[in-house]
Amino acid sequence: MEELVTFCKTRGFVYPSSEIYGGFAGIYDYGHYGILLKNNIQKEWMKSMVQKRSDVYALDSAIFMHPTTWKASGHVDGFNDPQVDCRTCKARMRADHLLEEHGIDADKATLEFLNEHLDALKKEGKMKCVSCGGTDLTPARTFSLMVKSNMGSPLDQLSEENVVYLRPETCGGIYLEYKNTVNSLHPKLPFGIAQVGKAFRNEIVARQFIFRTREFEQMEMQYFLHPDDMEISYEKWHEYRWQWYLDLGITEEELKWVGHTKLVFYASKAYDIKYHFKCMKKFDEVEGIHARGNYDLTQHSTFSGANLEYFDQARNEKFIPHIMETSVGLNRLMLMFLDHAYTKEQVNGEERIVLKLDKRLSPIKVAVLPLMKKDGLSEKAEGVCQQLREKYMCEFDASGSIGKRYRRQDEIGTPYCVTIDYDTLKDESVTVRDRDTMEQERIAIKDLKSYFASHVGDCV
Ligand code: GAP
Repeated sequence: MEELVTFCKTRGFVYPSSEIYGGFAGIYDYGHYGILLKNNIQKEWMKSMVQKRSDVYALDSAIFMHPTTWKASGHVDGFNDPQVDCRTCKARMRADHLLEEHGIDADKATLEFLNEHLDALKKEGKMKCVSCGGTDLTPARTFSLMVKSNMGSPLDQLSEENVVYLRPETCGGIYLEYKNTVNSLHPKLPFGIAQVGKAFRNEIVARQFIFRTREFEQMEMQYFLHPDDMEISYEKWHEYRWQWYLDLGITEEELKWVGHTKLVFYASKAYDIKYHFKCMKKFDEVEGIHARGNYDLTQHSTFSGANLEYFDQARNEKFIPHIMETSVGLNRLMLMFLDHAYTKEQVNGEERIVLKLDKRLSPIKVAVLPLMKKDGLSEKAEGVCQQLREKYMCEFDASGSIGKRYRRQDEIGTPYCVTIDYDTLKDESVTVRDRDTMEQERIAIKDLKSYFASHVGDCV
């Protein structure tokens, strides 16, 4: 993990936020290549979830919503994690995770259960701070994951009445716009609403780089349906989402489905897609697929008084639709793709680092490199680069030896390097080098557009 974190920082993918002030735990900024990679992952998700389907609509709802939204959803009262503090070094730990390290299943356990088992382990001398190894730990306490802000009150009168929450998940906005979507787009059941956006959680422990952060992005789709269609829709989405990972180069061996052992009372099914993170040496969750019943719309209907029933003409029936959701973290996916792609190879006795990203995800599609910075090669290369920029994210690089420049592009996952040399000036042809095979071929400048159209396709 340390190696990947350093790589991301030094190569312009991810920076620790507010570093010049000493950093800000659990928050990260995305640099030039990071944002391009993240955007490409998002684009592939939108393409698969909205563009390629006739039954899913897009949405971008606000981060701030009426505070009752989170009362209705149960988040204000129940979106908590159990926290234990080390009195010696002040480290914060998740009580359930501490017990799980001792083989005790503490998922969604009560404080009573947690403290009983923590006390027993303390007596045996087995309960230690994960940071300093100290044994002076507080009992487990409830810690709200909701991030609060204040809206519309003067600075000297900040009040509970004006509390607003930064959304802890993006699906809340989808539930609130279900009615407007039905009334404006008139979709037939089953249909979905998909959105990508920021979410905020006051995570107790946020120290696995961008795997778990306090500000992050989610890509969620809520599929509204008649309860009779839940089973079949769940199976279809299960398969559809799995295939998305395989299509982008993740292998079957790196993935597995894990069913939730404890379902919330309104859910009938919940499975996570787990990916094997080399950087953490373990499988962990990237995406959840949940059959949520009609709990969400029923709660919002009760709390708002709005009628959220749907009239199904085909069935001649009025009911509150049930929901099947797919929910995935964009930043977590970015870590997954980086983890998968980060490769070290021996080439002619030297190590090369290469990001073997699917071309659709690569931040830069083509790098244009003049062999020398003289005799008009740079100017020629800039011209070629400018032409390709019309269609692709390109980079011009003239600094350092050609070998070093190839290595730099390998490291950021650029699938093709175009080299302008002395022959180019004579015959208007260039060398195109493939990132993975490192093979080179000679292509006429006039054919570059069609070459990349067939090798890179429509992705920019
Ligand atoms: N609407 C359902 C929901 O939010 P979740 O399991 O809490 O379910 C879904 O979150 C996904 O969001 C996770 O699988 C993960 O990829 C991502 N996610 C959740 N918390 C995160 C965090 N603190 N940092 C980064 N990603 C997170």
